[in-house]
Amino acid sequence: MEQKEDKLKEVISHAKEYGFVFPSSEIYDGLAATYDYGQLGSELKNNIKSYWWKSMVQMHDNIVGIDASIFMHPTTWKASGHVDAFNDPLIDNKDSKKRYRADVLIEEHIEKIRQKIEKEVEKGSKKFGDSFDEAQFRVTNPNVLRNAQKIEEIENRMRQTLEDNDLEGVYNLIVDLEIVCPISGSKNWTEVRQFNLMFSTELGSVAGDASTIYLRPETAQGIFVNFLNVQKSGRMKIPFGIAQIGKAFRNEIVARQFIFRMREFEQMEMQFFVRPGEEMKWYEYWKETRSNWHKKLGLGDHNYRFHDHIKLAHYANAAADIEFNFPMGFKELEGIHSRTDFDLKQHEQFSGKKLQYFDPELNQNYVPYVVETSVGLDRMFLAVLSASYKNEKLEDGSERAVLSIPAALAPIKVAVMPLTKKDGLPEKAMEVLNLLKFDYNCQYDEKDSPGKRYRRQDAIGTPFCVMIDHQTMEDNTVTIRDRDTMEQIRVAISELNGIIDQKVNIRTLLQ
Ligand code: GAP
Repeated sequence: MEQKEDKLKEVISHAKEYGFVFPSSEIYDGLAATYDYGQLGSELKNNIKSYWWKSMVQMHDNIVGIDASIFMHPTTWKASGHVDAFNDPLIDNKDSKKRYRADVLIEEHIEKIRQKIEKEVEKGSKKFGDSFDEAQFRVTNPNVLRNAQKIEEIENRMRQTLEDNDLEGVYNLIVDLEIVCPISGSKNWTEVRQFNLMFSTELGSVAGDASTIYLRPETAQGIFVNFLNVQKSGRMKIPFGIAQIGKAFRNEIVARQFIFRMREFEQMEMQFFVRPGEEMKWYEYWKETRSNWHKKLGLGDHNYRFHDHIKLAHYANAAADIEFNFPMGFKELEGIHSRTDFDLKQHEQFSGKKLQYFDPELNQNYVPYVVETSVGLDRMFLAVLSASYKNEKLEDGSERAVLSIPAALAPIKVAVMPLTKKDGLPEKAMEVLNLLKFDYNCQYDEKDSPGKRYRRQDAIGTPFCVMIDHQTMEDNTVTIRDRDTMEQIRVAISELNGIIDQKVNIRTLLQ
């Protein structure tokens, strides 16, 4: 656990030192759970957006993208259920005065039991060696079975109490499980209360209920209210999707773990409109497609897993998370939700406007069902940054901090360097940079020794360094150094584009 926390701390400090992420308004001591992306962070963020947009919108001829406003008519949120049901069950520890999400406390307790099972399996594997049959062990070992049953009982009780909005039941479950506050170690809990997560503000100068509007807590509703606009103006045929990238806001009570849980964050969402009855087929399709999208980044397939929701959101009939192995452990990165026709039907009812599709093949009008993919851009950023950050021991005994960011996402693709600051080398280096900058985000660097400059570029994840030396002046060749292998080869300047493009072009991820 301590090791994991250390890793997160290292990532946070590296992100700040090199201009990826800063605490927001830091000169005023910051604002809790808000962060600013720096000069390299905003490049990385843009590249992640571009990977998502290209693969979702440009690579699918039946998906289009929009950019809806953050403020929406307040009835939107009444219809979507967010005014009444977008709540977190909260509980306070009276001794530490810390506030927790009650369901998260219970889920963490379940995770501990799960870890006990894994330890038991590990013990079995060590004991029986090659003859170990894990599947058999999991269904016969008494300790594993007892713990698995415990988990099932807790999950059932949690699901039931949350579904029934039985807050006393949730409290009793926490007490029965003897869950203690991680800070104070005490079981001195308050009752459980519901807390709405939407930020509200006033429209114009008149205060009062009539002018209360909300900062959108999800981008999805901007898509639902535009369903017919897009369908008609784009002559879209079902099945089709509408995608959007944009800010969302939630008054998270337990906002922590760096950019993982913030009050202002960005989502990349896509609503896929399908025929009623076909939603489960598309739900499975998008689970697989999105999982492949993540794995293509090469951060390690073992770092991803699916988690089926126990408590379904008020709009869903099936939902799963793609979890990523963050420095804090496996946590939600993306949600895939089968949202039924809930949202469109609600908007029909509250607006009095029909939101239906005429299906020419069925010769029938219907309200489409929706399968949604929703990934947090900031969580993607944290996944890429934390999985790429390494402190490597090199063969010569030295160390280097390196960000092995997927080359296509790297903030800077090429650093161009003159070996020395004289003999016309800087001018030649600028000439090379001026050739490359039309295609790649480049950086010029002439300060310090070449070794130090290479380390600086490794630390920000630059896939290539191009060195201009005295031979360049004679035969127009340069050395190009690969971030990952640290190998340098001499090539003609005219070959640079081809070599760089092969590795950093976003096509490498999309194909
Ligand atoms: N439209 C569906 C929806 O909003 P969600 O599971 O609440 O579903 C989707 O959120 C994704 O948005 C999450 O998987 C996560 O990546 C991201 N997300 C949610 N709350 C966040 C927060 N407070 N900070 C950063 N990212 C968040």
